[in-house]
Amino acid sequence: MSTTRVLTGITTTGTPHLGNYVGAIRPAIAASRRDGVESFFFLADYHALIKCDDPARIERSRMELAATWLAAGLDPERVTFYRQSDIPEIPELTWLLTCVTAKGQMNRAHAYKAAADANMAAGEDTDAGVTMGLYCYPILMAADILMFNAHQVPVGRDQIQHIEMARDVAQRFNHLFGAASGREFFVLPEAVIEEQVAVLPGLDGRKMSKSYDNTVPLFAGGPKALKEAIARIVTDSKLPGEPKDPDSSALVTLFEAFATPEQATAFRAELVAGLGWGEAKQRLFELIDAEIAPMRARYEALIAQPAELEALLMAGAAKARATAAPLLAALRDAVGLRRMVAAPVAAAPKAKAEKAALPVFKQYREADGRFYFKLAAADGRVLLQSSAFAGGREAGEWVKRLKTEGSAALAGAPVVPGEGVGADEIAQALDALVAAAAE
Ligand code: TRP
Repeated sequence: MSTTRVLTGITTTGTPHLGNYVGAIRPAIAASRRDGVESFFFLADYHALIKCDDPARIERSRMELAATWLAAGLDPERVTFYRQSDIPEIPELTWLLTCVTAKGQMNRAHAYKAAADANMAAGEDTDAGVTMGLYCYPILMAADILMFNAHQVPVGRDQIQHIEMARDVAQRFNHLFGAASGREFFVLPEAVIEEQVAVLPGLDGRKMSKSYDNTVPLFAGGPKALKEAIARIVTDSKLPGEPKDPDSSALVTLFEAFATPEQATAFRAELVAGLGWGEAKQRLFELIDAEIAPMRARYEALIAQPAELEALLMAGAAKARATAAPLLAALRDAVGLRRMVAAPVAAAPKAKAEKAALPVFKQYREADGRFYFKLAAADGRVLLQSSAFAGGREAGEWVKRLKTEGSAALAGAPVVPGEGVGADEIAQALDALVAAAAE
């Protein structure tokens, strides 16, 4: 059975929330336990720098996320778990991909378009506040994925476009540089979405996201913070006993993300039958806490031991680079970034052959005391013979003219052809000299 490579990254800007857990961490870890699956999970800390210029927050978030993934059941023996910024091959690949990515395609990337549209709506310059990091975000992400030739990428729905862009750039690179060697450098990755709960709603019903300030914390703040967040889930003002529309609040969707189908059906029925929102929130809290309380204990132990986390991540980086480095070496070679030992074989001997074939002028003085020159072919035959000059300078001047002007200077030149040598051969020899001098 061939193995499927699954890869996913999580941006290290915030404190992990329930949306990250349900949408990415939990499905990714479940997938990593399946037979025939080889998983790569990483902290996308280079991506974090695009959104965040607060070093303390980056540092804290990396630690919290590392501890979260491990606490959630990630097995670092089984999975390659690393920080993006510990893999120098990734930014190098990013550049190779940047060079084959159409700018127009980046113009259409959602994150950039959203920023540009907001600027337009506000009457600002289209690109106000847009960094090149944001603009090229999808290329870095493509490098994350292609570096390890991932087949499947579990992501939220909002990331589908990025996976499509990764496929495009992979295809383009394969076409441009793989065709010659018959090698497909990159696998074309596919997005994997967990259908029912791909995008978890937040407290207000919009997608759970730090930018909307509507998240439910996963471990931070303990059970108390979890309970408080759940209490803030927006509902209508129907009283206990009144029938509720289960779809009028994010509460049920959150419940469904942790419930069995039977539990979910029963919960909906109870709401329709008049279950109070307060009681419903208590049930939601208990359901979620039952799943995450054991993980929370492990999380707290890891946060208290950052040296252990660091060692685990560095071991993960070494494992990841063992895969990344050989592929990057092949890619460098494919685009022509090669060691200089293997100079282009075809061109070298040809250049030499041409040089060897060039005729030469020879100047000399005869016993009569006068000066002469001749043009000798590479094989030694005399192509041109000059008449006698009184001085060497005069002879030298004619040589110079013939060398620089070629056959054009022949007309008035005091020369005769060598024995059996045709005018064509002489003209060609002279013109070859002019051409060689121009190189
Ligand atoms: N862009 C992803 C997000 O915001 C994070 C990410 C970065 C990622 N690189 C990746 C996800 C590679 C999957 C694969 O969620």
